[in-house]
Amino acid sequence: MRGTFVIPAKPLYEGKAKSVYSSENPDELIVVFRNDMTAFNGVKHDQFTDKGRLNATASEFFMRMLETEGIPTHFVRMSAPDTMVVRRLEMIPLEVIVRNIAAGSMTKKYPVDEGTVLDRPVVTIDYKDDERGDPMINDDLILVFHILNAEELTKVKEMALKVNKVLRGFFDECGITLVDFKLEFGKSAGTIYLGDEISMDSMRLWDKVTGESLDKDVYRFDKGDVITAYRNVLKRIIPDAVV
Ligand code: ATP
Ligand code: TYD
Repeated sequence: MRGTFVIPAKPLYEGKAKSVYSSENPDELIVVFRNDMTAFNGVKHDQFTDKGRLNATASEFFMRMLETEGIPTHFVRMSAPDTMVVRRLEMIPLEVIVRNIAAGSMTKKYPVDEGTVLDRPVVTIDYKDDERGDPMINDDLILVFHILNAEELTKVKEMALKVNKVLRGFFDECGITLVDFKLEFGKSAGTIYLGDEISMDSMRLWDKVTGESLDKDVYRFDKGDVITAYRNVLKRIIPDAVV
């Protein structure tokens, strides 16, 4: 059981960190945020008590916030602390990354030092395909492969930059720098929705004063206790949350 939802024996899809189940409503899916944590395309893998709930809580919080800012999201409701009911989307196989500060793969691929503040937010897009190592893709390839048409591509980038504007300002007020993050989008009845998650797994967050990592980099690079870092973020963004 996950709240009012009885988990079917088999998920429709078991990802690296979430399991997706069908629902009685054919337009909805049930997403369970698991305690699994992976890095480096699954090479590093562990489980941490409470991790699923912490990420689900953050994701719910941000999806609700973005809805009020006019961004359509897949969020419908929570059915348990680690379980989200979402609109079923036809997912677009792209990882849309917005970067405010150079870090991670950007500093490995290009001659830019970690921590360099970019002149303006930059959108980079990876083709979501684990077997091919999620290669970076460009506008021409997205169009020629018919992943999106030109209007949809413009819309996706606009939405990603709007999400950045909203989240960046919010985090700043919480004493956190939003370095970069990844979004996934999907379609339903011709409309593009923000799907997947917005959590400490999918963002790079630095304490504004100390510069310490408060996200999955704590796990990736053994920088300390990742659950303590995730709780720290939740306490700052939702002061009355039970974490
Ligand atoms: P990665 O970790 O690289 O994002 P994954 O597939 O292992 O990939 P999970 O988060 O574990 O990721 O799995 C969740 C899956 O559910 C993803 O494939 C995601 O694209 C998909 N998904 C998210 N939201 C929706 C939705 N509203 N409708 C349909 N599928 C969705
Ligand atoms: P990026 O620097 O491209 O990759 P890495 O984290 O492997 O160095 O990541 C940019 C941001 O996007 C970062 O906040 C993590 C997030 N992200 C994901 O959540 N999933 C992914 O598969 C990728 C590539 C990035």
